[in-house]
Amino acid sequence: MMLELKSLKKTYQQGDEKIEIYNDLNFSLKEGEQVAIMGKSGAGKSTFLSLVSGIIKADSGDIVLNNISYNDLQENELNDFRASNIGFIFQNFHLVSYLNALENVMLPAKVCGISNPKEKAIELLKAVGLEHRLNHIPSQLSGGEKQRVAIARALIHNPKIILADEPSGNLDEETGIAVMDKLFELIKQNNTTLILVTHSKDVAARCEKTYQLAHGVLNLC
Ligand SMILES: Nc1ncnc2c1ncn2[C@@H]1O[C@H](COP(=O)(O)OP(=O)(O)O)[C@@H](O)[C@H]1O
Ligand SMILES: [Mg+2]
Repeated sequence: MMLELKSLKKTYQQGDEKIEIYNDLNFSLKEGEQVAIMGKSGAGKSTFLSLVSGIIKADSGDIVLNNISYNDLQENELNDFRASNIGFIFQNFHLVSYLNALENVMLPAKVCGISNPKEKAIELLKAVGLEHRLNHIPSQLSGGEKQRVAIARALIHNPKIILADEPSGNLDEETGIAVMDKLFELIKQNNTTLILVTHSKDVAARCEKTYQLAHGVLNLC
C-alpha cells in the first residue's frame, strides 16, 4: 500500500466542546490509484486531507505514506517529507499574489531543490495551456487560469500523491470541466496517486473509486 491510515482518532476543541471527527478511521490507497471523496459540508473531508498531509496531527493512530510512518518523524522531518512527496490543489487556488504564474509554479521545486525548475515550470504551464500567461500575477488571471497554474504547481516536484480539495468548486461548470480534463490528463501521464474531494458526481466519476464520508466513516460507493 502506498498510503495507510490506521485507526485514526481526531477531535477538535471548540470552546468547552469537543467535537469528534474521526473515532477509528482506517483507509488505504494503492500507488497510482485515483479516489474521490464526497460528503456533506462539515463531514470532515478537509480534515482528512490535512491529516494525510501531516499539517494537522491525529489524537492517536498512525499514517504511513510511502513506507514512512508519520509517528516516527519529528515536525521538521514531516515538513520536509510533505514538501517533497505531496502536491496540493485547493478550491481557492492559494497562489502567492505577488508572484507571477511562472514563479508560483517554481516554488515547490525550489523548496525541494529540484534541478532546472524554470524549464520544468514552463513545460508544465505549456501542458496546461498557459504558455502565454507566464508573467501574469494571479489578479491578472481568470479563475480557470489560476487553477491551471495551481495544477502545474502541484505537479512540478513529481509528488507521490496529489491532494485536491474541491478543485473545481469555485469554477463555472464549463471551466471546471476543462480544468479537470487537464488535471486528469497530467495525473494519468505521470501515474500520480490522487485523493480528490468534490461535491460533483461527474468529477468523482473520473476517479477509479468514490467514497462517501459520513459520521467519521468512509464508505465505498
Ligand atoms: N481547526 C478547527 N477547530 C475546530 N473545529 C474545526 C476545525 N477545523 C474544522 N473544524 C470542524 O470540524 C468539522 C469538519 O470540518 P471539515 O473537515 O473542514 O469539513 P468538510 O471539509 O467536510 O466541510 C466541521 O464541523 C468544522 O467546523
Ligand atoms: Mg472542506
